[in-house]
Amino acid sequence: MEILIIHGPNLNLLGVREPEIYGGETLDDVNRALKELAEELGVKVKFFQSNHEGELIDALHQARSWADGVLINPGALTHYSYALRDAIAATGLPAVEVHLSNVHSREEFRRTSVIAPACIGQIAGFGKESYLLGLRALVGWLRTRGEGR
Ligand code: DQA
Repeated sequence: MEILIIHGPNLNLLGVREPEIYGGETLDDVNRALKELAEELGVKVKFFQSNHEGELIDALHQARSWADGVLINPGALTHYSYALRDAIAATGLPAVEVHLSNVHSREEFRRTSVIAPACIGQIAGFGKESYLLGLRALVGWLRTRGEGR
């Protein structure tokens, strides 16, 4: 089982970017924890980060040929990118949307996700743990093919 893990715009600055909101850990720290969990779960993960919407869309298109599922933190694109939403839908791959912060307890514009309707679920507010919970949920879903959904 192979999972594409996507980090959207500005997530390369994790650790230095608004640490009071996003925490002090870097993207490498997050990826390291995800890799460890992936090994424990017996799945393979590939990471992709970009600050460019089109590159994220290209990565999703390419994932059609090799990935079984997608774990994605779309960053601010969450709130307005219909193109990214359509790309997820176009892959036909199950996707889980994750956020470090609780997007529902922040500014009004963060309460809307145009991505979530194209995903099997969303996890927000648990920092790095959101990604780990998301990976567990996605792998669990794939192993049971969404039974009881
Ligand atoms: C974020 C939440 C978004 O609203 C924000 O634009 C980000 C990070 C999060 O992980 O909490 O870039 O996706």
